[in-house]
Amino acid sequence: MKITFLGHATLLIETENASLIVDPFISGNSLAAHIDINALKVDYILITHGHQDHVLDVETIAKNNPKALLISNYEIVEWFGAKGIKGHPLNHGGKFKFDFGILKYVNAVHSSVLPDGSYGGNPGGFVLTTSSKCVYIAGDTALTLDMKLIPETCSPLDLAIFPIGDNFTMGYEDASIASDFVKCDKVLGCHYDTFPPIKLDKAKAQSYFQSKGKELVLLNIGSSISI
Ligand code: NI
Ligand code: MN
Repeated sequence: MKITFLGHATLLIETENASLIVDPFISGNSLAAHIDINALKVDYILITHGHQDHVLDVETIAKNNPKALLISNYEIVEWFGAKGIKGHPLNHGGKFKFDFGILKYVNAVHSSVLPDGSYGGNPGGFVLTTSSKCVYIAGDTALTLDMKLIPETCSPLDLAIFPIGDNFTMGYEDASIASDFVKCDKVLGCHYDTFPPIKLDKAKAQSYFQSKGKELVLLNIGSSISI
């Protein structure tokens, strides 16, 4: 599985047979100006919650990829459905087997409203299980005890993707506790640097993780890791 960081909380995940984009926010991110949104080829669009910094480019990507299926909670799928974008709704605790693997929608502690003020349901994250790997995409969230349910209910994780920028989500110190809760010492950080309140001292965050015996992967925008 190849995971490309496209800035903020946007990820392009390539499994053996599908490309998934998560929380596309590219055109509004000056740090991601070198990413060509129109070059993105995706089969699925995954949305954790309704905030603008997670849904801004859904319509552009859906228009460029007319066969792509949107996967999110019920309320968000309905909202985009009214714009002609087809989707598959999940709700918390539910999982479904897609052609790329199993996706489970899990709890997040955050808020969620769509850009026009519509109710976006409750925010969530995803656990993605393919035939070979398991990844937890936390979405915007605080540290929460619910994370302890993930190793109880899902396959052992190969990677946890956590917001680490603080202010709107947990910061890196809490993310290191979250990695204990989910029993995964390899963390990919996101949701930092995009706006002034979430500017991150990256070296400090990485050495903090190192001091706990953990790895914090921070990718340049446009760079990838393979797991
Ligand atoms: Ni948010
Ligand atoms: Mn956000």
